[in-house]
This record gives sequence, structure tokens and C-alpha cells, in this order.
Amino acid sequence: ADSFDEECDYLFKAVLIGDSAVGKSNLLSRFAKDEFHLDSKPTIGVEFAYRNVKVGDKVIKAQIWDTAGQERFRAITSSYYRGALGALLVYDITRRETFEHLKKWLYELREFGCSDMVVVLVGNKCDLGSSREVNLEDGQSLAQLEGLLFLETSAKENLNVEDAFNQMIAKIH
Ligand code: GTP
Ligand code: MG
Repeated sequence: ADSFDEECDYLFKAVLIGDSAVGKSNLLSRFAKDEFHLDSKPTIGVEFAYRNVKVGDKVIKAQIWDTAGQERFRAITSSYYRGALGALLVYDITRRETFEHLKKWLYELREFGCSDMVVVLVGNKCDLGSSREVNLEDGQSLAQLEGLLFLETSAKENLNVEDAFNQMIAKIH
């Protein structure tokens, strides 16, 4: 057996989805490696990272798939929803259109994902409050309407990033 089998009680898969440039890759690099990149490039297709998380006395290995938000990758990314137990659905609080597009992302999740997937709605870039185009209340009420968990985060300032992933993982296990 490799060390993975000995150290971890569960493995699960989750996906990061949402429009391009909302900060999905930086949320994942903050969570998995405590890194942030101001000049990150758009993701091509899909990338993934692992991190072990403790829930109670269990160690859970989270395999997180970071999908490309650009429209031209949509046909491939939808196939990565298969087998995912959780999703972080991300928008950018400084760009209203990324919030307006959430309906389309939710439709895709329900079309391609499993029906009891735990979804966390994430309003990222809350460090840029002076450029805000989406109120906290708008995020909260959409989450309530759709039955999602909800948080505003900053990958840059490392605000609520752990919480967003941990709430999803805790609810699954
Ligand atoms: P795609 O891969 O194209 O889908 O984009 P993405 O959602 O992965 O976005 P990415 O993480 O590459 O970030 C896009 C830009 O937003 C980069 O310039 C990041 O530095 C910036 N960014 C990400 N998160 C934050 C944040 O919390 N605050 C601020 N101020 N900038 C952020
Ligand atoms: Mg990316």
C-alpha cells in the first residue's frame, strides 16, 4: 500500500467552476499551497490539486479539479463534473456579469453533476470593496433560493478561503 492509503480515510473529488478570471485557480493555489499570483494565466482545460483535511478524527483527501472558465473549453469541462461530490461556484464581486451568469453554471451543474452535490457559492475578490458591483445580500439571497452554502472570499488576502473548502468538505462527510 502507498502512503496515501495509510494516511487518509476518504478520498473525494470536488470541482471549481465559474466565469473566467473570477479567481478559481488562485483560490485553489491559496488552499493547496498558500500561494497567490497577481499575474496568473487563464486555465487551459482542467488542472487539479490535492490537500488533506481533518474532519473530526478522520483525514479526508480532497482532490480539487480547477476548470477553465473560458467559453471555448465548456464542452470539455462539463465532463469533469462526473463523480464530483462538491463544487465551489465562484463569481467576482467586482464584475456583475459573473454573478448574472451563475444561473447558467447552476443549470450545467444540475445537468452534468450528481443530484446531491454540495455546492458552495463563493463571491471572490472581497478585498476590492471599493469596486464592488454585487452586494453581499445578493449573494446571500441567491444562495438561499438555490439551497447553496455561501461565503465571500479573498484569495489575495486569504480571507475565508479555508472556510469555503472546509464547509463543503464538512457537509459531504
Ligand atoms: P480561468 O482559469 O480563465 O477560468 O480564470 P480563474 O477563475 O482561474 O482566475 P485566476 O485565478 O487566474 O485569477 C484571475 C485574476 O484575478 C488574476 O489576475 C488574479 O491575480 C486575480 N485574483 C484572483 N483572486 C483575487 C482576489 O481575491 N483579489 C484580487 N484583488 N484579485 C484576485
Ligand atoms: Mg483558472
